[in-house]
Amino acid sequence: MIGKNNFLCYNHFMNKNVIICGDTVEELKKMPDESVDLIFADPPYWMRVEGKLQRVNGNDYDGCDDEWDNQFKTLEDYENFTYEWLKECKRVLKKDGSIWVIGGMQCIYTIGYIMQKLGYWFINDVIWFKKNPTPNFKGTRLNNAHETLIWAVKSKTASYHFNYKTAKELNLDTVSNEEFSKGTRKQMGSVWKMSLCQGEERIKDENGNKLHSTQKPEELLYRIIAISSQVGDLVLDPFGGTMTTGAMAKKLGRDYICIDNNKVYCNYGKERLKNIVPIINDVALATFDRKPPKVTFTEMIDAGYFEVGEKLYYNDKAYLFLTKEGKGQKKDGSITDIHSAIGQVKNNSETRLNGWDYWTVMRNGRFTPINDIRKKYLKEVKNYE
Ligand SMILES: C[S@@+](CC[C@H](N)C(=O)[O-])C[C@H]1O[C@@H](n2cnc3c(N)ncnc32)[C@H](O)[C@@H]1O
Repeated sequence: MIGKNNFLCYNHFMNKNVIICGDTVEELKKMPDESVDLIFADPPYWMRVEGKLQRVNGNDYDGCDDEWDNQFKTLEDYENFTYEWLKECKRVLKKDGSIWVIGGMQCIYTIGYIMQKLGYWFINDVIWFKKNPTPNFKGTRLNNAHETLIWAVKSKTASYHFNYKTAKELNLDTVSNEEFSKGTRKQMGSVWKMSLCQGEERIKDENGNKLHSTQKPEELLYRIIAISSQVGDLVLDPFGGTMTTGAMAKKLGRDYICIDNNKVYCNYGKERLKNIVPIINDVALATFDRKPPKVTFTEMIDAGYFEVGEKLYYNDKAYLFLTKEGKGQKKDGSITDIHSAIGQVKNNSETRLNGWDYWTVMRNGRFTPINDIRKKYLKEVKNYE
């Protein structure tokens, strides 16, 4: 079953948007240094499943007892394998790229240890809390309801990509649907609540049975790719399986390279990817994280969007007068900036806050946020929306 499939072996020397059928370490070795922006790796967990498990109703449970998962004889074998592919991943990953590795209790500690030995720097470990976990049929231990993801970079100084505000837009783990629809957004946490891959999403073989025992949910890959890469980036999956990573990379307008040494998975994956249509929406573009070009008060005064001497209000009360240098003059005559001033007014502290979020000016008898005027200026003068 396992082996190279020449039919699918493209000349992939940095070809993008390909599925490579081959041994991952050998194939990674053909890739240039520092060529990949993001890696998602879902390696064999080496679950060490023995014998058949049965559901409570007596039916067989088809869990993961595949040959590819059971290919290791000893812990040392597994360690050597893990070391080799993680070493190659580190080599092909760009200086500021990210790697995510998923694993269960059987392997994640070994993987994490080896990653640290190889010098990877951890950003987060994330718990994927399964909303619909497989029960522990025998009732002999706790129901294993999560997997762990390690998010890491090549070094402590890596300037990795994190779409912080986009992550907030995708966070329904700590915000209810109702709160979300009313506009509440909260920082994404490290516990993600998602279902196992199910329904239409599950790839079936020609007999209608599930093709792959460990197909990951699209939602998981969508989130990872959306928050830690950008449109046009190259995403690598060294253990492609059903090619969920490639599918979500394509959907989000990223390029992909997926590797698997099982030709059946590769063939099904190829079909799957053909049917994926990119949806380049605000999440894909990380529009929420776009930073507007820097503009100064003075240039907006010069352009007639603000007036020298006009009052800046917080909670309907005037605290500052705008100076021609774009600063705020207090009633006692001292000069400050809008960020320090709001810290003092709001919290009575030296802590600076973002003044653009608080101050208003009077326009046509109404308090108008200065940020709205800045947006108007950006749109009308700088062509930025
Ligand atoms: C946990 S599965 C990945 C599942 C995938 N994330 C998905 O959503 O379908 C691990 C995959 O690694 C592949 N694999 C195992 N050893 C490999 C090796 N040495 N080289 C390439 N692929 C390998 C297996 O065929 C299997 O599909």
